[in-house]
Amino acid sequence: MFLYYALVIIAFLILYYLLLKDARYGKEPPGPKPLPIIGNLLDLVNSSGNMTLALGNLAEKYGEIYSLKLGSKKSVVLTSKEAMQIILSNEATFARDFSGMWVDRSFHKNLGIAFSEGEVWETLRPWTFKTLKDFGFGKSSEMERFIKVASERLFASIDYKIGPEKTSCNLDVELLYNSAILSIMWQMIVGRLSPEDEPSIKIISEKGDAFNRTSIFGAGIVNAFPFLRYIFPDALGYNVQMDFFKECNTIAKNLFTEMEAKMRKFQLTMPTNLLEAFVLNSIKDPKIFNCDNFLLTFQDMLLTSSDTSNTFMEIVILYLITYPDVQEKVYEEILKVSPDGRDLSYSDRIKMPYIQAFFLEAHRKGQPLQNLVPRRALSNIAYKDYIIKKDTIIMSDTRLYYENKEDWIDPEAFRPERFLDEAGQVVNAGKIISFSFGKRNCPGELQANIVAFLGITSLLQRYKLSVPKGQQMPRLDMRPGLTLKPYPFQATFAKRQ
Ligand code: HEM
Repeated sequence: MFLYYALVIIAFLILYYLLLKDARYGKEPPGPKPLPIIGNLLDLVNSSGNMTLALGNLAEKYGEIYSLKLGSKKSVVLTSKEAMQIILSNEATFARDFSGMWVDRSFHKNLGIAFSEGEVWETLRPWTFKTLKDFGFGKSSEMERFIKVASERLFASIDYKIGPEKTSCNLDVELLYNSAILSIMWQMIVGRLSPEDEPSIKIISEKGDAFNRTSIFGAGIVNAFPFLRYIFPDALGYNVQMDFFKECNTIAKNLFTEMEAKMRKFQLTMPTNLLEAFVLNSIKDPKIFNCDNFLLTFQDMLLTSSDTSNTFMEIVILYLITYPDVQEKVYEEILKVSPDGRDLSYSDRIKMPYIQAFFLEAHRKGQPLQNLVPRRALSNIAYKDYIIKKDTIIMSDTRLYYENKEDWIDPEAFRPERFLDEAGQVVNAGKIISFSFGKRNCPGELQANIVAFLGITSLLQRYKLSVPKGQQMPRLDMRPGLTLKPYPFQATFAKRQ
């Protein structure tokens, strides 16, 4: 009899749990019905032949937040600013989708900044950016020095291409700023840019480029079915990705061990760069400041800063040549603040609202990052009537937000003026969300803005840019890859008199 009652009570409790759990926590966001094993991969492929449009297209059917199963991984996609702002600011989303190649590159350990969590992330992220700030990162005067060195080299190479006889040349814009940006980051981490460093920077630049070319298709498939990377390592780009990680690790390990030897010999106590500070801390706190964590921090800093910033520079040049009237207004503003052609400093931007508005509009139209670095829910999260369950992968796609008519009126137009009020002052800067939200947002926003401002103003002081004669106007849509970037295009660089 007792057993009978016990069974009835257990059955009642199970029924109660099944019926009420959704009511208590809300429903999971709607989405296409997943198939066994492949989940919603077919829905993604069917929603658009262009993978950069697929996530947004599904949102048009299912709403600002919807569920998607990628293989066996439960995911949600956020497509409105409100959903991104609220959900990504919630500390229950301060974790990443740590799987596939990201686990392999970290030796299956919780390391570095961009994919770590818990104590490692909470220590290394603020420590790295505070230390970089102490050594000049974020102080515009120091950054100006780094950027000037890097820009002068770039301009020398452009002038060399133009040659003594001519006044202009056509150049591929793809990766134009990549080495300059890598060398700025290198200087900030290592504290120097010596001729012996050049081969390392060149290798990182070349292998990093190959890494970024590995397709969104391969990365998407590996993301859904991580084990496939071992079965089809070439076809899915896995070998190229691991080659880049291995190369970066070898270079970082050499830097770390050389610095350890130097410290032992010279008893350094006052660090002057991030590498020295890291190695010095390894004596006091080896649990966090060990060689493995240096390798991943070094790699994260290079990986997160160079491709993103270079892509943004490509987008900026793309719009400058597509809209010569906009370029003319930017140049007029530069001339107003620097009639004699003196180098501008970052503080000059306050007097230059048009160029600020231009950069904001380039962020809106270029949407350089979209869903690059997904988060993972550490616990159940409520949003409106919905519940995002623990361990769900959270992706963001900004396209529909940046293209909606309520926010932007004429979203298809490239019109920096939308960020200026009647008095010509910058407004609505907060509507740009390229650097994401919450404490796990992009910590490099200031550096990215300084590089873009100084890099582009000094370029325009020297050259007028245009679409090469006889060539078609470049495409403005983005090409799929691990990150979204413009299709390759050329620009004419004509020396200003
Ligand atoms: C136009 C340039 C850039 C854009 C659009 C950009 C955007 C982003 C975005 C969207 C994220 C993901 C944030 C999230 O999960 O919510 C991110 C992460 C990150 N970015 Fe940037 N970024 C840029 C440049 C930089 C630069 C120059 C640096 C370094 C100096 C940098 C360092 C990082 C790091 C370390 C992370 C990982 C943060 C973490 O996981 O805690 N980024 N970035």
